[in-house]
Amino acid sequence: MTISRETLALSEMTGLTPLSATTTCRDPQAAYSELRARWGQVAPVELEPGVNAWLVMGHPEICNVVRNERLFARSPHYWRLYAERIVPPDSGLGPMMFPRDNAYFADGDKHRRLRAPLDDGLAALNEHKMSQMIRSTCTDLIGQFIERGSADLVTEYAASIPMLAVGRMFGFGPEHAEHFRRGLTALFGSGEDSQAGNRMVEQMLTSIIESRRAQPADDLTTAFLKHPNLHNDYEIVQSMVLMVSAGYETTLSWIAQTLRLMLTDSRFSGRMRGGRLGLDEALDEVLWRDPPMSNMPARYALADCDLGGQRILRGDGLILGLAAANADTRVHSSDPWLEVGNRSYLAYSTGPHNCPAQRTSRIITRIAVDTALHLLHDVAMAVPAEQITPMPSPWTRCPASLPVRFSRPGIVHK
Ligand code: HEM
Repeated sequence: MTISRETLALSEMTGLTPLSATTTCRDPQAAYSELRARWGQVAPVELEPGVNAWLVMGHPEICNVVRNERLFARSPHYWRLYAERIVPPDSGLGPMMFPRDNAYFADGDKHRRLRAPLDDGLAALNEHKMSQMIRSTCTDLIGQFIERGSADLVTEYAASIPMLAVGRMFGFGPEHAEHFRRGLTALFGSGEDSQAGNRMVEQMLTSIIESRRAQPADDLTTAFLKHPNLHNDYEIVQSMVLMVSAGYETTLSWIAQTLRLMLTDSRFSGRMRGGRLGLDEALDEVLWRDPPMSNMPARYALADCDLGGQRILRGDGLILGLAAANADTRVHSSDPWLEVGNRSYLAYSTGPHNCPAQRTSRIITRIAVDTALHLLHDVAMAVPAEQITPMPSPWTRCPASLPVRFSRPGIVHK
């Protein structure tokens, strides 16, 4: 059945493809192609039953949306389904899509005010100290399984690194990392447990704020407490939630996908034998092919307009299809040799809300991958690549596991 674009508004459409079909399937680009074939670069999708949004899949179309703040707002207060309470307050979408007092959910002057403490905090990081800490964290993690000759590089390695790195920036240690990890995984999953996960993260951050207020330290929590742009504890805790949550699953996914690429794609695995394309090319190839945020919520139309051949109505929600846009042949070919140095991917989005941690996240990811490649010898996947499944989420395709085998120290394979 063909749904008429002219006669039905977004909210009236039924039988739409769920957004999660693009993240949980084996071949996301095939899923995006199907949507494009039917609808063009802007397709209606279902976020949860009764909650529809537009998925923007073209590279220039996404750039137009995120750079035009007069027509597309970030604040969910402009989302008709939220304002009219059609999305239930306990929806799993809440933690990723409902308003909070931080930069991510703000527009214009309020966005600039709340963004400055994040940019200032990241610019003031001592990268040398941070790099040393990450390298020693990675070496310790590998030390825990190297004698075994096998490991799961997601659960035993990649999942711990961003949490410990971002945790250290804010002044919380490994004893809190596991709790944060569980809370954030639920939050990103946008399922039934996402609101409980969000509460757990907020409570832990609130207690860290209280302890830094009593005893300041050289960390971002203390810097946020002192920053004149953050006006109350709610803004401080929400700015911390943003940094901790934005940094966790994205960086985990980037580490895991890069390790997987290097283990499964001969053009990159050559490097491990002293080969041809380097680590930064592999990191970039992942940002093209498997960007950590596949689909990014959201922008809301401030007026009726046309986009990619669709009629968008005021208050409609738009999801940024970053993974789909990266495959746009107008900006990218499929040959990594031709693409060396091309960083026009949308993995970090663009415009005023683009990711402020591009440099920091590359440092963390590069050290994590490099340390694994140097310490683990003769690494090979322990299961066929097709058996690697993503964690459930409509936004990311973070691998749930990456089982590998490698030589035990002292045993040399010829
Ligand atoms: C230490 C790690 C990271 C931290 C602390 C971090 C932090 C943030 C923050 C605070 C924002 C909101 C900025 C704003 O709205 O003004 C953001 C947005 C974003 N980040 Fe990151 N991030 C990290 C890693 C990553 C990685 C690895 C990726 C993907 C490669 C990524 C992709 C994005 C995207 C796509 C946005 C949304 C931009 C938009 O809505 O237009 N982030 N990040």
